[in-house]
Amino acid sequence: MWKYRKLLISVVGGLGIIGVWSGGNGFPVDAAEGMTKDKKPLERAFPHSNKCKRCHERVFEEWEASPLSQSIHSAPFRVALDRYLDTERNRDRTFCFRCHAPHILEYPEQADHFTKEVQSRDPLIDGVGCAQCHLVNTVDSTVKPPHPHFALGKTVFGGYKKPVSNLAHQSKALDLFKSSTFCLMCHEALPDRDKEHQMPGLLGDWKNTQANQKGKACQSCHMPEQFGESANGERNRKVANHTFPGRLGKLQQEAAELDIQTEVKGKTSVVTVTLQSLVPHNLPLPHPGWVSVILDLTIKGKNLRKVYGENRVYTRVFADAKGKETVFDFEGVTVVKDTVLKPEETRVETFSFPTPKDAPSMDVIVTLRYEPVKGPSDFLKAIEQASSRGSKDPVFQSIDIVQKKINVLLK
Ligand code: HEC
Ligand code: HEC
Ligand code: HEC
Ligand code: HEC
Ligand code: HEC
Repeated sequence: MWKYRKLLISVVGGLGIIGVWSGGNGFPVDAAEGMTKDKKPLERAFPHSNKCKRCHERVFEEWEASPLSQSIHSAPFRVALDRYLDTERNRDRTFCFRCHAPHILEYPEQADHFTKEVQSRDPLIDGVGCAQCHLVNTVDSTVKPPHPHFALGKTVFGGYKKPVSNLAHQSKALDLFKSSTFCLMCHEALPDRDKEHQMPGLLGDWKNTQANQKGKACQSCHMPEQFGESANGERNRKVANHTFPGRLGKLQQEAAELDIQTEVKGKTSVVTVTLQSLVPHNLPLPHPGWVSVILDLTIKGKNLRKVYGENRVYTRVFADAKGKETVFDFEGVTVVKDTVLKPEETRVETFSFPTPKDAPSMDVIVTLRYEPVKGPSDFLKAIEQASSRGSKDPVFQSIDIVQKKINVLLK
């Protein structure tokens, strides 16, 4: 077994040296010298995820199924990027890429190349691929948003202290990879427009949550521990899931608890919903700016016909420099309304409505769900045109998070 493994490593690893950092001189490029003629070509400094796939098939397949592998591919991203570049001509062209394809930070002069890749609809460059995370060496948390520093050598960084050696890369464990700090570089906040317009962060007060005080980092929920191999043919051990469950996936069940109280007072009924968010950060996270979650109340009377509906909207509303409301957070200079559910918040919502007539009972159905994209009609039309699925693009669909249904006797 040991012999076999060693052989496997040397054969595959041997190819790896040629394949992963092909032709690279192997010397880490200092970020400050990034502009010198010694700068490696982009694709050598940040090997494509396909090159890691050969030895890390399990991780690759999980990542490929995750939203992260689509960070510069979606129609809404393409259309919103176009709008940013059109309307915000005097601003930084790397703005969106700093999180959606963060290797731009080392190659800011290639903003046009990145943009063309996105516009091609089928980018050949990675967005948030393996190297974009695993070459991060430190994160500077004193700036907003926190800024990653890459070490562009042949060492990959990770969270595992005892990786077996291989010939494709050196491995080094850093506590950073087990810490929320790592995720904050992209999830904490958008860069401010200027000093006068400081915008609130995306996550809310996540530090003072029970989850964080119990030592639960982002990874513990979004990269859940599982048992499996890390590299092909290696020993099974505890590994981190790379499908990044969030809006989709099992985490939904852990997002919120709903409690429903009803009171029938003759012609009027009152439903009180106690919604307890179990999420240790804002829900929804208010980027992109059009995101919203609603709490929907549906009442069904005789023959299960819907007789009443009402909802509450949890979202952040931005206004641009002229004071006009906008769904484009990158145009926003102020927040005019903020109803997102705060970390671990309990919210009580009361609805009153006419008691259904001639019915022996009513169904009270309460659903917490993500709403489809919203915004100006030319924007929605552009997404439809940009998407290979047209009006069936997932962004036009709502996603249920939790639902609760009770039946209330009326007489
Ligand atoms: C380099 C920037 C970057 C880093 C670092 C990063 N993310 Fe993300 N993350 C993104 C982007 C961009 C998306 C959106 C991808 C898309 O849908 O196009 C995303 C999406 C996600 C999603 C899916 C969201 C949804 O709506 O379902 C989860 C969950 C997530 N990230 C968790 C994490 C965690 C946990 C970490 C830290 C271990 C992390 N991310 C680190 C940029 C990053
Ligand atoms: C500070 C990092 C950061 C910046 C800057 C940023 N994004 Fe994002 N973006 C994210 C993260 C993280 C997500 C995933 C959010 C989630 O699911 O909660 C995301 C999600 C999105 C999504 C939804 C997922 C998708 O791919 O369709 C769109 C669209 C989007 N961003 C567009 C943009 C545009 C356009 C810009 C530039 C104007 C931009 N973003 C700038 C971090 C960033
Ligand atoms: C958004 C950032 C991010 C991306 C993208 C990402 N990883 Fe990871 N990866 C991490 C973090 C953080 C850990 C440590 C998680 C922990 O230990 O809790 C990790 C752990 C690992 C590990 C060691 C533990 C394990 O699960 O075996 C390997 C190997 C790995 N990643 C390979 C890859 C490969 C290959 C890709 C691309 C297909 C990739 N990663 C994409 C952030 C990322
Ligand atoms: C020739 C095969 C091979 C290739 C190609 C390869 N790796 Fe690995 N990698 C391994 C082996 C073997 C391990 C050790 C696994 C173990 O100990 O269970 C490993 C471990 C890792 C770890 C864990 C390190 C830690 O301390 O947590 C990370 C992260 C990682 N690789 C990322 C990558 C990335 C990113 C790429 C692509 C740029 C890549 N690997 C390409 C074979 C390879
Ligand atoms: C205790 C578990 C837990 C921890 C810790 C946690 N989250 Fe979440 N997160 C959730 C749940 C539950 C959801 C909601 C799932 C759903 O939408 O159905 C969620 C949703 C998300 C989403 C996608 C939903 C959206 O509204 O855009 C992102 C992105 C995300 N979390 C990032 C993070 C980051 C970054 C951290 C660390 C600062 C973190 N999470 C810490 C449980 C957790």
